Amino acid sequence: MPALLNRHVNGKKALDYGCGPGRSTRFLKNLGFDTVGVDISKEMLSKAAQQDESGEYLHIRSGQLPFKNNSFDLVFSSFVFLEVATFNGIAEILREIKRVLNPDGSMVLVTGPIDGVQAIGCRSRTTFLKTTRLLIAETP
Ligand SMILES: C[S@@+](CC[C@H](N)C(=O)[O-])C[C@H]1O[C@@H](n2cnc3c(N)ncnc32)[C@H](O)[C@@H]1O
Repeated sequence: MPALLNRHVNGKKALDYGCGPGRSTRFLKNLGFDTVGVDISKEMLSKAAQQDESGEYLHIRSGQLPFKNNSFDLVFSSFVFLEVATFNGIAEILREIKRVLNPDGSMVLVTGPIDGVQAIGCRSRTTFLKTTRLLIAETP
């Protein structure tokens, strides 16, 4: 994953969508990204803040991001979309992610071990849900 991010992400402003207790946020911060974590669970956010007192963790409603257009170079989301129950819910989140990504930004979704494919990323220039370019990475 570090090599994938290094190769394809330009810039250091990152959003961790569905940060949970902050494991993925700290992962991005350790790679040098200036990262904000957001989640729908206050309980998870409180755990994240306990482990990273200087970190920025914000409570959101699903698919509603309190950021201006083009705010981020990277939107990272690991093991979150599996928990979104409806197609409309997923589409709403993706539209909002596209809004806050800068035009040259990247989105990386870490899904899970589906046929060995564990991470899928797509450039924000492409239309979400109809991507023309997918970056696939397999982690051990
Ligand atoms: C399995 S945890 C993953 C946490 C972290 N990204 C990681 O990789 O360790 C999934 C997180 O997604 C959050 N989540 C679920 N549905 C969400 C939604 N619609 N919008 C934002 N966060 C959501 C949950 O509250 C939970 O904290």
